[in-house]
Amino acid sequence: MREDRAINQQLDSITETDKQKLSPVNQSILKIWGPSRLQGKINISGAKNSALPAMAATLLSSGVCRLRQIPCLADINTMGKVLSALGAKIKQNGNTLDIDARDLDNPEAPYELVRQLRASFFAIGPILARLGVARVPLPGGCAIGARPVDLHVRGLQALGAEVHIEHGMVNAYISGSKKRLQGAKIYLDYPSVGATETLMMASTLAEGETIIENAAQEPEVEDLANLCIAMGANIFGAGTKTIVISGVPKLHSVDYTIIPDRIEAGTFLIAGAITNSEITIAPVVPKHLSAVISKLQSVGLKIIQDKSDSLRILPSEILKSTDIDTQPYPGFPTDLQAPFMALLSVCSGSSSVTETVFENRMRHVSELNRMGANIRVKGNHAIVEGVPKLSAAPVIGTDLRASAALILAALAAEGETTFQGLQHLDRGYEQLEIKLQKLGAKLERVDLVKENDIFPASI
Ligand code: EPZ
Repeated sequence: MREDRAINQQLDSITETDKQKLSPVNQSILKIWGPSRLQGKINISGAKNSALPAMAATLLSSGVCRLRQIPCLADINTMGKVLSALGAKIKQNGNTLDIDARDLDNPEAPYELVRQLRASFFAIGPILARLGVARVPLPGGCAIGARPVDLHVRGLQALGAEVHIEHGMVNAYISGSKKRLQGAKIYLDYPSVGATETLMMASTLAEGETIIENAAQEPEVEDLANLCIAMGANIFGAGTKTIVISGVPKLHSVDYTIIPDRIEAGTFLIAGAITNSEITIAPVVPKHLSAVISKLQSVGLKIIQDKSDSLRILPSEILKSTDIDTQPYPGFPTDLQAPFMALLSVCSGSSSVTETVFENRMRHVSELNRMGANIRVKGNHAIVEGVPKLSAAPVIGTDLRASAALILAALAAEGETTFQGLQHLDRGYEQLEIKLQKLGAKLERVDLVKENDIFPASI
């Protein structure tokens, strides 16, 4: 993780941008009435963070690829537009995508789309491996950090690509007649999920063997490897710190189902915990949630595994404080830091939360405090003093997981919360309010169509 004063100045400007974006004109908001008691079973969608690299990986194939259990999300739509702009043909049927990249011919990903979805940068590896050249705009930072791509770039250079960054564009090409990347030994300074995925995809078509050391071990990395293996790639060790790839000339068609979303699953477990409810979530891979389950148990909750792919959380009157340090997998996931902090805000005692992965992922704290939480932040470290209950308030989400945290807090808070920031939530949670309504939560999406609606004009 990198700290940098320039980053914070840049992020402050993002805050200003957030304010302009969040003006109530033509804006939908969520109204949430609490406190809620939930009950029932929730269907967990396919993993967003598997689906996005998996879509990029289909660019490697010389056949037609079918991806199943793809969540219907704004980010998926944006990634689909990127692939289409590159020359792929896409058909969507509910949660199934058919992607035909046989006629891939455009090496340049459009800036307007990469600006909206930084994960589209992951396409650089497959484009380069297929076409011998790739031009992908440098993805900007976002609300949670500067999000540099230096590890991606250095890895591609190790694989034999010439890479130059100018005018905000990453230009990569393979010199020489073969136009083929060369296998190499790569050590990642940080177990970056995206860099591991970019380099693993690029090396599937390289000449020779590639070894990625200090690789990310996230389940989504392993899922991507399994997809590529199903397409004919030779990949060993995905899900561990060392991944070995032996390049092949071509990859073929595939019909593949991605894994369930462990972050959505964890979000719903926390929804059960914060509302003192018994709910069941499925399908899940329990192993992917070990760190989250362990922390929920420290807080005093019981988690039952009824079947191989389902979990049930039991309510607990007493919620105890605990400490969280976010870490790369298998540590506690950074994407559940904000939702878990919402829970800690109503756990008795003092909890500490340390964010070690991103440099600016505490922006939900000020909004939680407006709901009556008692949280002090110093840098990437927060101390949460539990309060007996939260109170409803108008709140604004600044990023995807901060928004989820505020929705969870609103489910437990007394009164009517109005939430702005659906443009963030719709990026990463499939039908969140519909799933919560099915569990008995009282919330609804309301369209604000004019300036003088009930919501304050700015934050
Ligand atoms: C992926 O982002 C996820 N996104 C993130 O989920 C997730 O939080 C993150 O992994 C960590 O688990 C997708 O998979 C689409 P990283 P990614 O590269 O790949 C630094 C969500 O809410 N770094 O592991 O961008 C970086 O600045 C999103 O669903 C470099 O310094 O994460 C950060 O501090 C948010 N140089 C750290 O590594 C690089 O070249 C972790 O980033 C790359 C990363």
